[in-house]
Amino acid sequence: MWWPDWPILGIRSPFSHSRNFFVGLFLGFSLSFSSVAVKQLYNLIKREKPPPLFNPRPIELRSDEIVRGVVGLIGNTPLIRITSLSDALGVEILGKAEFLNPGGSVKDRVALRMIDDAERQGLIRPNSESRIFEGTVGSTGISIATVARARGYATTIIIPDDVAEEKAKALIALGSQVERVRPASIVDKKQFVNVAKLRASEYGRSDLVTGAGPSTVPQTVASQSDATTHVHPKEHSDSKGFFADQFENTSNYDAHFDGTGPELWRQTNGHIDAFVSGAGTGGTIAGVGQFLKTMDENVKVVLADPEGSGLFNKVKYGVMFDPKESEGTKRRHQVDTVVEGIGINRLTKNMELALPIIDDAFRVSDVEAVAMSRYLVMKDGLFVGSSSACNLFACIKLVKKLGLHNGETIVTILCDSGNRHYSKVRFFIVFFLH
Ligand SMILES: Cc1ncc(COP(=O)(O)O)c(C=O)c1O
Repeated sequence: MWWPDWPILGIRSPFSHSRNFFVGLFLGFSLSFSSVAVKQLYNLIKREKPPPLFNPRPIELRSDEIVRGVVGLIGNTPLIRITSLSDALGVEILGKAEFLNPGGSVKDRVALRMIDDAERQGLIRPNSESRIFEGTVGSTGISIATVARARGYATTIIIPDDVAEEKAKALIALGSQVERVRPASIVDKKQFVNVAKLRASEYGRSDLVTGAGPSTVPQTVASQSDATTHVHPKEHSDSKGFFADQFENTSNYDAHFDGTGPELWRQTNGHIDAFVSGAGTGGTIAGVGQFLKTMDENVKVVLADPEGSGLFNKVKYGVMFDPKESEGTKRRHQVDTVVEGIGINRLTKNMELALPIIDDAFRVSDVEAVAMSRYLVMKDGLFVGSSSACNLFACIKLVKKLGLHNGETIVTILCDSGNRHYSKVRFFIVFFLH
């Protein structure tokens, strides 16, 4: 018989003790069952929730339509499963084959976007006297030279004199004016980026000195991010030196936020657990990382950093520092490593956009990067450049650290081909790995 307890009225049921026990047991079970059910429901919704702001469409690789000139070949690169590593680790390690871009690297996207944006802003005009200047360790120069030719611009590319010989040769073959300078710190005005900026401004002035008529007075303009280098602004002039400035120009970030990131999302149908990338200017990790986090905040963004770069310590401890740069141990050049294109010791505007979204960082040594590049050749027939090998080694470190083995998806960038680094890597293999 039901006999309620009314403690407030001083009424107590004779079955009160055993009934309380069963009620408690019942409540306990139902609470724990319902909390587990709610959690499972939450996970289900989270997993099945269609990604926001994204309209799924068939995976689109290189188009089978006729494309418009060489710039039509840029982007929409395939995503390849690195079979050896994926099988060995029990995860999916996928590399975006950026070496298939017509200029041979991920930098084609950046060159195209910087030139497009500069044209849109009226800073340069095709088939005029406009000339594009850039300071680069090579890849960006080759991409700029490629896109510039297709768009009707001349180029002057400043490179450090210790970059792989292949890059200088490619630049000259593309009809670029090439200037090689001693490697130096960014505070040195002879550093390659500073020289490019200077040459862009001299281009304006020297033509002025030669007495070009008023309608062809040249000007120097810079990417939108650096308005201070605008010299002699004058409308209706055709002759302009444009300093592309990949480090500070956020068209670089935009190329990856609008291109590489969405392509990766589409190619994986939104199943990405982590994105691993090195940083040279920071454009790739910032643009792709930001896009992926926008789609799913749980995607881990991870930095692969070579020896000599200060970024690893910046991400881990908030201080831009590398032991090789400390007093008494400093080598001849900054970021003195066999890995070309990534690693940096200053904060660029593009890198600033990356820092808030980087979850973790791994240091990759020269020996590890070169060993990985050899492994990929032997096991997968893939001959990628040193920065790609560095990215893939960092993927392994991440998988080990997180104990992943259930088919999780890690994506990374295969920035360029090993052909571009042959002379450097061959030297390293002969002296260090044998
Ligand atoms: C071969 C190579 N890989 C990777 C990168 C790094 O890309 P980001 O400049 O977007 O950080 C560069 C940059 O110059 C590069 O040359």
